[in-house]
Amino acid sequence: MQHAIAILDSGVGGLTVVKEIMRQLPQEKIIYFGDTARSPYGPRPADEVRLFTRQIVDYLAQFAPKMIVIACNTATAVALDDIRRHVGIPVVGVIHPGARAAIKSTRSGMIGVIGTEGTIRSGAYEQALKRISPGLQVFSLACPRLAPFVERGLFGADEAEDVVRSSLEPIMNVPMDCLILGCTHYPFLADAIGQVMGPGVKLISSADETAREVSAILYHKGLLSESADIPLHQFFCSGDPALFKQIAQTWLSEQISITPVIWQVP
Ligand code: SIN
Repeated sequence: MQHAIAILDSGVGGLTVVKEIMRQLPQEKIIYFGDTARSPYGPRPADEVRLFTRQIVDYLAQFAPKMIVIACNTATAVALDDIRRHVGIPVVGVIHPGARAAIKSTRSGMIGVIGTEGTIRSGAYEQALKRISPGLQVFSLACPRLAPFVERGLFGADEAEDVVRSSLEPIMNVPMDCLILGCTHYPFLADAIGQVMGPGVKLISSADETAREVSAILYHKGLLSESADIPLHQFFCSGDPALFKQIAQTWLSEQISITPVIWQVP
């Protein structure tokens, strides 16, 4: 039996991480859970996000994954340590990889971070960045409209740039040279964000660096897949499966099958 990498998010945002893991680790089987019925996590209290994250991890345990990727910044910010204590397998979040990618990219040391209210309130990016490089200047902004916009499948719509522009208005003139997309939903809006911020600001998605971290951990622990078969990925969501499938297939450019999950808990 091939043990999978389990990846979870509040909704469709973690698919940005899935895509990069599929690209960097094409032999690895992925099991993905999007908690679309309870998305967004951003406005929810930290305790509730911790509880939801535990529920998903416990649900995914039936598949005996070899690793868990919390592909949600809000959940990483408040639940990563709890999940690491709770399970006996490696658990990777998206905040430290995103911070490392930004530090690698910045020349001016002025870094912007956009994320959900929960992520920005936690200060997790600022701590992760300054832990590595205390002299950095960090400009953080919560953008509560963006993740729900993506969840509605509207990222390709004409109004995307207007929604992004009004969200980013407070930091548009800050002299940063890179901007961390501190929510895994935001790469869906990368074109609009790039238009609004201009060519002098490099957009940093944690997906690439997270996939690299997953790859390095699997290698060092001797857990890389040995199978030459094309892996059969599995996708689960707690909300509307048709909308999830449409978004996932557009983003991943491949057909997927989706299993709806009805939570027994509130
Ligand atoms: C959300 O559910 O509010 C967004 C997920 C994230 O923070 O990446």
